[in-house]
Amino acid sequence: MSAQTADVDADGFTRVAAKGRRNRSSKASSLSLKQTVPDSSIDTSSAGQGYATIPRKRLSKKYQQRSKTDVELQVEDVKVKLEVLRTGKFSQELQTCVDVVNLFGPEEIVCYGIGSLASQVSQWQLALVLLINQYVGVDICAFDPVTLATDIETFHRFGISMIAENEEAKRVATKRTLFFMPHCEQFLYDNVLAANWEPDQLARVLIIGNHLARYKDIQSGDEFAKNSPFISRVLPHVTCTDLPSEKLLNLRHCPFAFTDTCLQQFRTNSETIDRRHNS
Ligand SMILES: C[S@@+](CC[C@H](N)C(=O)[O-])C[C@H]1O[C@@H](n2cnc3c(N)ncnc32)[C@H](O)[C@@H]1O
Repeated sequence: MSAQTADVDADGFTRVAAKGRRNRSSKASSLSLKQTVPDSSIDTSSAGQGYATIPRKRLSKKYQQRSKTDVELQVEDVKVKLEVLRTGKFSQELQTCVDVVNLFGPEEIVCYGIGSLASQVSQWQLALVLLINQYVGVDICAFDPVTLATDIETFHRFGISMIAENEEAKRVATKRTLFFMPHCEQFLYDNVLAANWEPDQLARVLIIGNHLARYKDIQSGDEFAKNSPFISRVLPHVTCTDLPSEKLLNLRHCPFAFTDTCLQQFRTNSETIDRRHNS
């Protein structure tokens, strides 16, 4: 069975008729910085159409004895997701973000923390960066310590090279760099900023990732300044553009791949940049 048949959602779930199922809506909290749903859970939320969904891996024996390799399946899955992102309302709303990216004019895209492509969430995130790059057409490289051999092959199929060593997100932006960091940990964003803590370097940084300002809301002022000295000092200089809501994808299940995610740019000058406690 192909992932592109009419019965397969782009998130890799297949619709099956269910008897007597009732609607159950997802109750994901809007407070956490990162929200994911387990990839293999059986989700019975049915959007009122008498359907339940089952994970594809529970499908027929025929499917399980598939001839396609894991890489081919991953590539196919990402392509399906790319197509979903590329069409419809989500893509229309994404245009504002694309305009911001184009205005910034990245010369390269560096992906940190996409995770392993065994995860549907990571596949959605890869699809998004590929879509954005359809508008800019630059080299993409990636690193995540959890990357598997299968992931590397899939990344390569999409023309993405792997960063050879763990930079701990301390790359100095010698050229205009789009850092694609979906749902990364706080310290990784802080590291990017620390490595580029000069006005002309910060101007070469565009981060797609968690709303940095939200970190301020979830910890005390002292903790925030101690845990992430550069995020705390950059906040007055952040320009933020939100990604469109995932609801616009009009899917049976929200992928929870872009929650709390936005584009952030940093405008400072020699007078406004805060150089206290530079380490
Ligand atoms: C919270 S997870 C997010 C994973 C995925 N993007 C998602 O939304 O489900 C953070 C990711 O950052 C990765 N990470 C941790 N240290 C890293 C580093 N030094 N460079 C790049 N990625 C890193 C982790 O392995 C993990 O995959």
